[in-house]
Amino acid sequence: MRTFHIKLKGMAERSVIVCRKNVLSKQLKEDLSWLKAGGALIFTDSNVFALYRRQIEALTLPVFVMPAGEENKSEQTLFSLLKAMAENGLRRCSTLIAIGGGVVGDIGGLAASLYMRGISCIQIPTTLLAQVDSSVGGKTAIDFCGVKNLIGTFHQPMYVYADPTFFKTLPQREIRCGLGEIVKHAALNAPLFDRLMQNQDRLFDMELLAELVPENIRIKAEIVQKDPNETGLRRCLNIGHTTGHAIELTEKNLSHGECVLLGLYYESRLAQRHLDTDEAYLRELGTLIRTILACKTEDIDVERAAHLALFDKKNTQENRVVLAVPTKRGEFSFLELRYSDYERELKEIMETL
Ligand SMILES: NC(=O)c1ccc[n+]([C@@H]2O[C@H](COP(=O)([O-])OP(=O)(O)OC[C@H]3O[C@@H](n4cnc5c(N)ncnc54)[C@H](O)[C@@H]3O)[C@@H](O)[C@H]2O)c1
Ligand SMILES: [Zn+2]
Repeated sequence: MRTFHIKLKGMAERSVIVCRKNVLSKQLKEDLSWLKAGGALIFTDSNVFALYRRQIEALTLPVFVMPAGEENKSEQTLFSLLKAMAENGLRRCSTLIAIGGGVVGDIGGLAASLYMRGISCIQIPTTLLAQVDSSVGGKTAIDFCGVKNLIGTFHQPMYVYADPTFFKTLPQREIRCGLGEIVKHAALNAPLFDRLMQNQDRLFDMELLAELVPENIRIKAEIVQKDPNETGLRRCLNIGHTTGHAIELTEKNLSHGECVLLGLYYESRLAQRHLDTDEAYLRELGTLIRTILACKTEDIDVERAAHLALFDKKNTQENRVVLAVPTKRGEFSFLELRYSDYERELKEIMETL
């Protein structure tokens, strides 16, 4: 058993992140007496509940199950959960335990931050994406009025229990999605980048993934610790995401992580045009991305470029777009472009690939 404790100091609230196997049958069992004393509710989604029902029910805590899927990251689910918290008599000293992917984590964190002006939350992320990214940093949200994450808060979980045994039931596509965020971190961290390059032939290997989780948590935690409320440095975590989101808006059958990988790829090409970059490194980054996507970037329909006009302009200021882009091993820069130039250059890059 390997246990890591990462304390996010310098924040109003503290989070302890524990990487440990079998958290449902071990860690939560150990916590059960204090959880029961203060009162607790388990919040999960229908897929996770179907797969882990026996272990969850063995805890003999009340459970609220939401229907799985981003389309349910809504105010209806949020208020149903808050109602379940009230009906189960949760108090100021009680704990909400969110067991699931980023959707469950984001809604659970939001409900915990709102209920009685804020109660404790334990995050048990069950997807690779949630373990390496969304469960760390205290961002909570629901989608609202058709806009992703429009309503949310910052609320640090008391504990995050990251357990790699959950990956055994995770579809390959969800692993690829999490790898997208891992490559995002690798674009900011040279040792992680080298590690991925050295292990290109076993990126979907469970043992490797189990080792990558604490490494990625450390990288994200360090960034978040320096900028908990996203006023500066933390924006580097948007690397690949501006273009990734533009692709995500039009390519409904690509996952978020796949779009981030494509976003990183295209943004590295933009960086080459405008900034001092390491060409050999950016070529390697491109190879890594193609390995994970299991497709040639050339295969992507260039027609999508036309749709980029739909790109959400509220992310831009005075028609300018600021992108965090990869430049050299472990280095990034902010690249500011006029929106019209960004759109035109992106089309050119996509068409010439
Ligand atoms: N708060 C943040 O900082 C932050 C960062 C990144 C992403 N997010 C949010 O995270 C969400 C995406 O998270 P996600 O990719 O985990 O999506 P998700 O929660 O929808 O999970 C993906 C799918 O996997 C299923 N699943 C979860 N764990 C499983 C397991 N162990 N075995 C089998 N199936 C399992 C889920 O039921 C779901 O169908 C988005 O809503 C995004 O906005 C938040
Ligand atoms: Zn992301």
